[in-house]
Amino acid sequence: MTMLEFDFKKQIMVLKKEKNAVVLAHNYQLPEVQDVADFTGDSLALSKNAASTDADVIVFCGVHFMAETASIICPDKRVLIPDLEAGCSLASTINAQELKAWKDEHPNAAVVSYVNTTAEVKALSDYCCTSSNAVKVVSSIPAAQEVLFLPDLFLGSYVAEVTKRKNMYIWPGECHVHAGIKAEDINSMLATFKNADFLVHPECSCTSSTMYHMSKGDLSKTGHILSTEGMMKHARTSNAEQFVVATETGILYRMKKENPEKEFIPIKRDAVCKYMKKIDLQKVYNSLAHNVYEVKVPSDVADKARLAIDRMLSIS
Ligand code: 13P
Ligand code: SF4
Repeated sequence: MTMLEFDFKKQIMVLKKEKNAVVLAHNYQLPEVQDVADFTGDSLALSKNAASTDADVIVFCGVHFMAETASIICPDKRVLIPDLEAGCSLASTINAQELKAWKDEHPNAAVVSYVNTTAEVKALSDYCCTSSNAVKVVSSIPAAQEVLFLPDLFLGSYVAEVTKRKNMYIWPGECHVHAGIKAEDINSMLATFKNADFLVHPECSCTSSTMYHMSKGDLSKTGHILSTEGMMKHARTSNAEQFVVATETGILYRMKKENPEKEFIPIKRDAVCKYMKKIDLQKVYNSLAHNVYEVKVPSDVADKARLAIDRMLSIS
């Protein structure tokens, strides 16, 4: 039998049963991967799902920090990532050394780390957050306490604007995919798609211009700054027929699949995360068949990081 004739999808289903395994996939994963997943969602939903599953094995189809988070939450389970090169340009903008130095400058500050960070960085943080609960997490911190928010500059600026917090310092990190979605992209789409709802991820560099348009009235009813799962929910419940989607294009597959009668327009066709696309069906099969690649976080780091993640899960 040639590789082409091998039915990876069917074999993945067999192995999942045999090994009591679940496949979790982020909304940006390739369609073929989403189709074999037991659950597809945003980073928060994936963390919650990992925390509640009774499977023995979790095949995590996303990027490395997400699999690390699952391993921290479920230290007794085997967490696998099908490709070790599935990294994240945003998570690599800050390391533990840099965070230690920043904390030394603000010894009384609460550290809020976006989930797109390494386990070592989470271990030095007070709270973890994702794009869907960042505002809630920051709002839960006493107003007089300084906040160090990392690593995303655009998400941080958005949270500071919504919470009106003046004592919040923001790390200047960015995701190469979302930083490439600019104010001009929103402006030109606004002129073309007058009746569409605009769904914007808070990591985008156009987030502040979207907020500006919302405050001016141009987007007051149709502009929405949302996490990927927030976008999915909005696509389901809105009466609009057209949606301009400002995030990684992988989400369009699930949007269209769940809402075939609606139209979804990517704000930029080349907003593609090469790390999210590292995983394909063959690698998912390989992962399940050979138990590769196991993601394990040293217990001293995991114990500290778990506190920050648990705080996030209890707030959201
Ligand atoms: P979500 O938490 O909205 O899924 O975003 C994760 C991410 O990596 C965005 O690029
Ligand atoms: Fe990281 Fe950006 Fe890819 Fe999300 S889209 S995983 S933030 S590089």
